[in-house]
Amino acid sequence: MVPMESTGATTMEKIVSLAKRRGFVFPGSEIYGGLRGTWDLGPLGVALNNNIKREWWKMFVLDREDMYGLDAAILMNEKVWEASGHTGAGFSDPVVECMKCNHRFRADHLENTETCPDCGGTLGDAKDFNLMFETKVGAEGTAKSYLRPETAQGIFVNFKNVVDSMSPKIPFGIAQIGKAFRNEIAPREFLFRVREFEQMEIEYFVKEVEWEDHFEKLRSDIQTWHRHLGLSDGNVREYEVPENDLAHYSKRTIDFEYNYPGKGFDELAGFAYRTDHDLKNHQQHSGVSMEYIEPDGSRFIPHVLEPSFGVGRALTAVLCEAYREDEMGGETRTYLKLPAHLAPYRVAVSPLLKNRPPLVEKAREVFTMLKKEFGNVAWDDNGNVGKRYRRQDEIGTPHCIVIDFETLGEEQPGLKDTVTVRDRDTGEQQRVQINELINYLK
Ligand code: GAP
Repeated sequence: MVPMESTGATTMEKIVSLAKRRGFVFPGSEIYGGLRGTWDLGPLGVALNNNIKREWWKMFVLDREDMYGLDAAILMNEKVWEASGHTGAGFSDPVVECMKCNHRFRADHLENTETCPDCGGTLGDAKDFNLMFETKVGAEGTAKSYLRPETAQGIFVNFKNVVDSMSPKIPFGIAQIGKAFRNEIAPREFLFRVREFEQMEIEYFVKEVEWEDHFEKLRSDIQTWHRHLGLSDGNVREYEVPENDLAHYSKRTIDFEYNYPGKGFDELAGFAYRTDHDLKNHQQHSGVSMEYIEPDGSRFIPHVLEPSFGVGRALTAVLCEAYREDEMGGETRTYLKLPAHLAPYRVAVSPLLKNRPPLVEKAREVFTMLKKEFGNVAWDDNGNVGKRYRRQDEIGTPHCIVIDFETLGEEQPGLKDTVTVRDRDTGEQQRVQINELINYLK
């Protein structure tokens, strides 16, 4: 096996192409010419996406005693967004329009804000463009609402409900996974900047004097999470956001950046110290107390640390990290070196020949046994075994199992009830007893 160097920009193009060809990610509304900034997850994309979300939930909620889950509504009372500051300038991007071709651009992404990069025409003055999608609620359509631009506010408005129902001891966090929507002026780069995406967010409530300690602990948890995604340390870095660039609610933010091929380091996840900005504003706007009451009766509004992850950016980074090209058996092959806990299929099972009933029957037996154990097991009897291996390599299946005549005891009686297990990364094959398979794969 000879690893091959792949070049930057083309690697990203190859990943996007593989993602479509193999059923990971399709352009949104494609048969109608698409809708910019939207993508649909195919059968394997939804499997990978669900695995990322499940692992995140396990690490940040199930495996801890200080985290509580939540799933709040996407539509919320419009007052939420006034209180959070999202209806104001804090959640707007500066947009400029070309007076000749009418194309619109984000002014802060342009090097020259006077000349149109598309047609050379003159650009108009920059105007603030709010990123929230507005919608009307009810048959009369008189009540205004927004598609939430972050899941975070659903957590803040339920802070009191969680405290009253669960009596958590401070420090504690509330975690949520869900869709968020932003009317991005310039959606771009695959899943990187889209108009509809998923977030995995935690609001971690602390005493003000302790925020720095907990900041360091959560920072280390985020590093562990990125390693759990299989991202190498060299491809993830931390960027301390300068004060003049901080979001309207933040006093300190670290962006976790990934080294996307052809693009370089750019944001993967954010980690912000939001102070008591949100709870204080919700208390002011709603008139409901957001104070936390200690067992000794003392009261205070907690301060908040917020690790915020985009699922699509995590999925993109995982695909980029896993993408490999090498030479095997004299041919170039592409494979995804996905960690087993993220791969859409844990293992694939095949009969050597699909027109030999005894092989198919035995393979079905093995398939059923493994499916009961792992769930995500592929049955693959398309084409010859070589083609199946290539296909499973390309979708990142860590192992392929083939049931052959030796399994049936027809060739060498000593090999009866053993199968071939092929390793995705090395291409090496081993014979393993069927009753040892589950242990072997684990
Ligand atoms: N609640 C804090 C918050 O939403 P953010 O930095 O605006 O902070 C957090 O977003 C994460 O959500 C980002 O690090 C990124 O992973 C993801 N994200 C934000 N906007 C996105 C977009 N337009 N497309 C894809 N992912 C996005």
